[in-house]
Amino acid sequence: MDRINLCLAHMSGNEMQYIQEAFDTNWVVPLGPNVNAFEEDLEDFVNENGALDKKVVALSAGTAAIHLGLIMLGVGKGDEVICQSFTFAASANPIVYLGASPVFVDSEPDTYNMDPQLLEDAIKGRIAKTGKKPKAIIPVYLYGMPAKIDEIMEIACRYEIPVLEDAAEGFGSRYKGQVCGTFGTYGVMSFNGNKMITTSGGGALICPDAEAKKRVMFYATQAREPYPYYQHERIGYNYRMSNICAGIGRGQMTVADEHIKHHQWVHEQYVQRLGDVDGLIVHCAPGDEMQSNYWLSTIRFEDGKHVISDDLLPFAERLSEANIETRPLWKPMHLQPVYKDAPAYTNGVSEHLFKSGLCLPSGPCVREAELDYIVKKIKENL
Ligand SMILES: Cc1ncc(COP(=O)(O)O)c(C=O)c1O
Repeated sequence: MDRINLCLAHMSGNEMQYIQEAFDTNWVVPLGPNVNAFEEDLEDFVNENGALDKKVVALSAGTAAIHLGLIMLGVGKGDEVICQSFTFAASANPIVYLGASPVFVDSEPDTYNMDPQLLEDAIKGRIAKTGKKPKAIIPVYLYGMPAKIDEIMEIACRYEIPVLEDAAEGFGSRYKGQVCGTFGTYGVMSFNGNKMITTSGGGALICPDAEAKKRVMFYATQAREPYPYYQHERIGYNYRMSNICAGIGRGQMTVADEHIKHHQWVHEQYVQRLGDVDGLIVHCAPGDEMQSNYWLSTIRFEDGKHVISDDLLPFAERLSEANIETRPLWKPMHLQPVYKDAPAYTNGVSEHLFKSGLCLPSGPCVREAELDYIVKKIKENL
């Protein structure tokens, strides 16, 4: 059996046509027809063909999108930003790029995403401690799972704190039918090589309106003022997506729905095939209102035996020797050495998940034969 990876890029076959057009017309720069058309495709996708009116800016990475989203929300030196602790470092690092400080909030056990109750505790706690409200809130849709975004938005609105949704892993996930990334003021997408769709590397920022989109584009292109010569009154960035990468993105958009359905099917197969294993839980959306894209299916062990650096890592190692890639769930930010001094509002959930959970192969290379093999090897190696 060839190595079965967690999730690798999968081309539709249509990408080359758009890339060829870019070469033929010499649009080999970080703007052009593919960038514009990819943004239109993304807008149709997130707006459900007219239900919403969000605008999208294509960028060089999801991390760049978080950075620019925070700038648009006015985050700067000395501010605090609340961020889900259970996530990849890219959710939090841009806070520090801006001279602001992260305040980490733990997860609840249903979705593994930001705990609304702890979020409110954190807001109250920071106001009591610093006399100032946090400047923004970053919930994350980990492994594609929708967060309890209604509750998070209700609290954020009550305290008048804007929300930037990190939907890097949640492309096409829905909460009550609405696409994740469209609830807050800004939403982030990632098209890194391992994501639901890819542009090799890339990301996008979902913006509330055309005015905001224009401003994001201004910051993404070195903040050049409209003068006949180069005039700069603010610090800008080189964050626009290349027209070549956007060509890949256009091709990927032709099969985005198929990719999502495939990941959901793989998850359903894990539920059916591993559901009867004692002490092993396949994480599922907690209710019908949450439609996960199941970018990565995850399992956790409640047997007290499979614990990270005890039995879980050797178990993952045995699967790796059998050519099956797995990965521990994210190590929470509040446990990362680099963030050891950041305030954190915790309940033990993310720490427990980190210690007892693994991501399973979920991408396009996982078909019936691979599932048979993965499930067999999991059962053999427990
Ligand atoms: C939760 C999360 N946020 C942000 C990012 C950053 O996206 P990118 O790699 O496109 O910069 C990623 C993925 O890489 C991610 O998984």
